[in-house]
Amino acid sequence: MAASLSYFSGVSLSATEKPSIPSLSTSHNRRVCFSNSSRNKHKHHDCVSLSSRWKPPCTARAIKIVAAAQKEPLKVMIAGAPASGKGTQCELIKNKFGLVHISAGDLLRAEIATGSENGKKAKEFMEKGMLVPNEIVVMMVKERLMKPDVEQNGWLLDGYPRSLSQAMALENLGIRPDIFILLEVSDELLVERVVGRRLDPVTGKIYHLKYSPPENEEIASRLTQRFDDTEEKVKLRLKTHYQNVESVISLYESVMFKVNGDVSKEEVFSEIDKGISAILENKRTVDSASMAAGVAQ
Ligand code: AP5
Repeated sequence: MAASLSYFSGVSLSATEKPSIPSLSTSHNRRVCFSNSSRNKHKHHDCVSLSSRWKPPCTARAIKIVAAAQKEPLKVMIAGAPASGKGTQCELIKNKFGLVHISAGDLLRAEIATGSENGKKAKEFMEKGMLVPNEIVVMMVKERLMKPDVEQNGWLLDGYPRSLSQAMALENLGIRPDIFILLEVSDELLVERVVGRRLDPVTGKIYHLKYSPPENEEIASRLTQRFDDTEEKVKLRLKTHYQNVESVISLYESVMFKVNGDVSKEEVFSEIDKGISAILENKRTVDSASMAAGVAQ
């Protein structure tokens, strides 16, 4: 059976009897379909319609039962002070685990670029290093989280939630992370990272003049700097961060994974990789157990 990424796996088995209808249950992440294996790609409602077309048991006929476990995609949040390395690590996480990267800051900058009223209002707050009001940012993130690519591949939420009210907006939708990564970096390093940060508008890649310089002159000549990347503004952003971070952390204590962000980006990623891989392994074990329990019914 084909597996897409690490989130899908299944087993096929043959049976000569029709399983009881309860085993068709599609408890949140498991589907059991009757028919040929190609049907296992169908959605839950397809499986239900197959069951409703079920004919009385025929002992002469071997029925192939395909039990497939549709595992819930991975859900990761990453938090940390301004310039702690969230964007840098997201790039590496996305490349390895195939998650959809949703950065609240990037969504806001894209809105600013459209010249919309919301964008203009957002910029006023960002220039002061303050949080953009919830009525702008919450809906933006929620809408992105509902897109099909996110549902299919899982998400990597960067810079959201930043306050208890934002976290509660997700809780109310039943949206929780499997792991909440917190990057810890000392304040002196943060200021240095902010003022040296440059962005490539063509590739979106994040550089640092000292720690991660551009590969060649052509790239160097087109690099840009964010309007809020000044020493003065990062101090305001840091203040806002420290005012809010504790309330967010308290909500995700049980899935918290703290990482020392003071070291090189490769070393930081190595730690994050271990944390996410452990979560994935755990999800696999749980899903296999629930699948086995379903087959045994
Ligand atoms: P946002 O864009 O999210 O900014 P931020 O949180 O301040 O974080 P940064 O993007 O500045 O840094 P980063 O942690 O991604 O670090 P990076 O990897 O780039 O938000 C901007 C503003 O939007 C906020 O101030 C707020 O106004 C508003 N906003 C955003 N979300 C909001 C929300 N939820 N609600 C309300 N308002 C919201 O790295 C930084 C530099 O360091 C780079 O140059 C990089 O090359 C370098 N670097 C990275 N890692 C290392 C390393 N290990 N060693 C050496 N250098 C490194």
